[in-house]
Amino acid sequence: MAKNIIEVINLKRNFIVGSETVHALRGVSFSISAGEFVTIMGTSGSGKSTLLNLLGCLDTPSEGDYKLDGISIKQMNKDERAMLRNRKIGFVFQSYNLLPKTTAVENVELPLIYNNEVSARERKRKAIESLKAVGLADRLYHKSNQMSGGQQQRVAIARALVNEPVIVLADEATGNLDTRTSFEILSLFQELNQKEGRTIIFVTHNPELASFSSRNIVLRDGLVLEDTVNNNIASAHEALQKLPKLDD
Ligand SMILES: Nc1ncnc2c1ncn2[C@@H]1O[C@H](COP(=O)(O)OP(=O)(O)OP(=O)(O)O)[C@@H](O)[C@H]1O
Ligand SMILES: [Mg+2]
Repeated sequence: MAKNIIEVINLKRNFIVGSETVHALRGVSFSISAGEFVTIMGTSGSGKSTLLNLLGCLDTPSEGDYKLDGISIKQMNKDERAMLRNRKIGFVFQSYNLLPKTTAVENVELPLIYNNEVSARERKRKAIESLKAVGLADRLYHKSNQMSGGQQQRVAIARALVNEPVIVLADEATGNLDTRTSFEILSLFQELNQKEGRTIIFVTHNPELASFSSRNIVLRDGLVLEDTVNNNIASAHEALQKLPKLDD
């Protein structure tokens, strides 16, 4: 049995807005093992981002518990959670969230700056290695504004990987990209999962992407509606080859 990386136990998250309470998550439970590639789907407002923010220790639940790599976040204070987040989780967002006018290497070095076990020289070496792993060896010193959307998302993925996190969390990571670039990024995620064994949780509202992951969890109104294992994983690389080429 692969190791349990994530264990979510009856997780609830309420938001109080004025005199109303929004029940964004109403009691969600599941476990995720090392090496899984999980897509999380559901219509707008179903609770996907709320769940991902909890999994990423960016937010705390109203009720329930969450264990990351065996550690319960319930008893942790804010600083301990921030440390856990920095060491164990890599994030990729729809809007890349790169520092503007800053080189790819500098952007990728960022998560390591808070880690005083890593020297400046080691930090740069790791950043370059991570950028090579996402196919950006030839764009190391390009600034964010000098790169395409797909390249910027690759930098964001390299940044998410540089700390060697136990899990990579992506929220609509292909949401801003055209179809071809989306498949390139999806193919990169598949490669990281299948070749390097990275555990990935990929939130998307695009139901077509379920065929490319190993498991699909569907949320509805803050509850798990479906949780399905996919034994016939489609290749994003092959899907990419089949797309019509626009340039020729
Ligand atoms: N900070 C907040 N304050 C109040 N309500 C919130 C907050 N964050 C989310 N909600 C509410 O919680 C519910 C779930 O929101 P969430 O952002 O998780 O949905 P989602 O599935 O990610 O949707 P989308 O596909 O549009 O990104 C929604 O009804 C939303 O309005
Ligand atoms: Mg969302």
